[in-house]
Amino acid sequence: MFSLLVSLSFAADADAGKTPYTTSCAACHGDKGDGAGPVGGALTPKPADFTSKEFQDGRTDAELAKAIKEGGAAVGKSPLMAAFGGTMTDEQIDDVVAYIRTFKPAE
Ligand code: HEC
Repeated sequence: MFSLLVSLSFAADADAGKTPYTTSCAACHGDKGDGAGPVGGALTPKPADFTSKEFQDGRTDAELAKAIKEGGAAVGKSPLMAAFGGTMTDEQIDDVVAYIRTFKPAE
């Protein structure tokens, strides 16, 4: 119980987001976040490129979380981006959002 309370009280954790990202997202979005994963490269439109500054600056964390939770169609993007709300908790989604932010290019 103590560890549960501790984990709930901490902000989103990019390290914790790495494993779910690698398992559920990298096939399309790529290990490096560039949208060129083995499946993603074959899709039209291509998966979002998280290494793009324009992408990173153009979306809030809440917008990214909504796309992940409710799917691409919920944010006006491709329905090939599935909804993960049924398989990931809100906390895991926030962690994955934090991990996606680690792909942001240096200024
Ligand atoms: C089947 C391939 C596929 C998988 C798996 C996938 N995505 Fe996507 N993702 C896409 C596509 C395609 C788009 C939409 C590109 C577009 O319409 O511009 C997208 C878009 C997004 C967006 C951006 C929405 C925006 O504002 O532009 C986010 C954030 C995202 N994906 C996160 C994730 C995360 C996190 C996971 C894993 C939990 C994941 N995706 C798994 C294909 C995938």
